[in-house]
Parts: sequence; C-alpha cells; structure tokens
Amino acid sequence: MHPNYGVIQSCASADAAYAHCGATGVLGWGKEGHYAICKIAEEYLSEGALLAVKQLLPDSAGGDLAELCSWADEIRWHFHWSSALHYVDTPDFKCNYDYCRDCHDSYGHKDRCVTGAIYNYTMQLKSAYADTKSELKYNLTEALLFLSHFVGDVHQPLHAGFTGDLGGNTIMVRWYRRKANLHHVWDNMIIDSALKTFYDSELKVMIQAIQKNITDIWSNDVTDWEHCAHNYTACPDWYASESVSLACKFAYRNATPGSTLEDDYFLSRLPIVEKRLAQGGVRLAATLNRIFDSQPRIAQA
Ligand code: ADE
Ligand code: ZN
Ligand code: ZN
Repeated sequence: MHPNYGVIQSCASADAAYAHCGATGVLGWGKEGHYAICKIAEEYLSEGALLAVKQLLPDSAGGDLAELCSWADEIRWHFHWSSALHYVDTPDFKCNYDYCRDCHDSYGHKDRCVTGAIYNYTMQLKSAYADTKSELKYNLTEALLFLSHFVGDVHQPLHAGFTGDLGGNTIMVRWYRRKANLHHVWDNMIIDSALKTFYDSELKVMIQAIQKNITDIWSNDVTDWEHCAHNYTACPDWYASESVSLACKFAYRNATPGSTLEDDYFLSRLPIVEKRLAQGGVRLAATLNRIFDSQPRIAQA
C-alpha cells in the first residue's frame, strides 16, 4: 500500500535544482491549475503546517508553495519512473474506481499511480514528523512537492479517465477553432478560456473568485471536503472515485473524436473545473494539516 519510489538524486540535492530541473512539460492540470490549487491550499494551512511547509521549501520558492506546484510535471519525462504517478486510469467505460484493480503502471507494477503516490508521500512526511530518524530515509522536500502536485492531479477528472484513450489524450477534438486533445482541454484550455473570457486574463482574479465561492456558495460543503474517513491522513481513493464519475458525466460526454467543443461545453464544464480546483486546494491543506499537526516534532535542528 505504501510503496517507496525512487529518489531524484541529481535533482534534489541543490536548491536551485527545483527551479529549473528537467524538461518543461504540459501535464497534470496546466501550470495555472496547479498554481491555483496550491494558492487556495495556503489559505487553509494551520500555523504548524505552514511552518513545516516553509521549512521544507527550497529557497527558490520564496516561501510560496504555489511557485513549485508544477515541479513534478517539469521533471516528469526526465525521471521516467514518476510519469505513471500523475494519474490512475480505469478500464474503458467503467465509471468507477478500485485501488486494487486500477492502481498500477503500464507494466502492471502495483501502487504506481496517483493515489498510490499520494499514500506514499503522505506516509514519508508523516513518519518523518513522528520520528526524526526517518528524515534521513526520505527527501522530504521532494515528498512535499510531489504530494502537493498529485493531490491536484487526482482532482482533474481525466486523470482518472479510461485506459484505452489515455485519459482523453488520444481523443482529438476542436476547442473552438483550435485542434486539441480532450485531456489538454481539461488540463489547460477550459482554464485559459475562462481567464480570457471572465477574469481579465489574470490568474489572481480567477483564484479570488474561487476563494469567494468557497466562503459563500460552498461554505457548507468545506467540512465534508476536508473529511477523511477512518482517521486516515490522506483520502485519495475518494477523490479518484469522484474524478472518474465526473469524467463520465462531463468530460467524455459529447466529446467524441472529431467533435467541436465550444460555448455549450465550455460554459457547462467551467463550474466543474472551478469546483475541482477549490476541492483540490482545500483537501491539500487538510492533508498537510493532518500530517504536520498530528505529532509534535521531537527534535529540530
Ligand atoms: N497517460 C495515460 N493516462 C493518462 C492520464 N489519465 N492522464 C495523464 N496522462 C496519462
Ligand atoms: Zn501532473
Ligand atoms: Zn493532465
């Protein structure tokens, strides 16, 4: 259940490595989506979690987790073992998710998927904060950056899509007049179009609008979103189940190969995207709070 993946030796040693390591990718939510999720999370961090996060961040982040929330995508192709950790696909046309059935990479290695990765990096951080000795076993900066990124990814409905179309990556559509694949529409295009149409091309304004929705229309849901059953620290299985269900109901629906997606699709799906960004942020914070608030740190250098 808690695999220990490879450690990025060459990338993890120097602070600067986090700023420009590996090739730039266009994966997960796009840069904007991940930035928004981590910005929203920052608002919900407890004092203890905020302190722990700041201590683990490399200097290049300037104390801001959001700055490095796309780091895992940037190193994705350079460190190939990490590539399968960004998603969990289900058998074609199955709109439900099952950890034992679905969490594996394309070679069938178990636990190598986004939910397995969230369990793994949660365990690394939690054990290090409960017991200073495990600090030496794991790279906790890396664990924090992977965890923050993957909690975002698991909220993108097509990161729990179907195996046969690689979560929509092989479904070619038109986004208004541009050619795109369906996965990219959900990672980037819906957010990009929303920025241009509604938010003055300012990500800050879009994030503020989502934050306002969290305190207004979703305020009664936030406790539910944060909740993690059975006293667990992380609840990624629940988020992946929601994602595949949303993939079936909203992402794949009316988006067959060759179709043109425009206003109808954009305006009906944007509220889903905004809610997933909100849930991703609130749940990332709740997970980090459970990790860092659970045990007082025994020794601090
Ligand atoms: N590659 C295969 N399936 C994928 C998915 N659901 N998301 C991103 N990349 C993938
Ligand atoms: Zn990703
Ligand atoms: Zn993606």
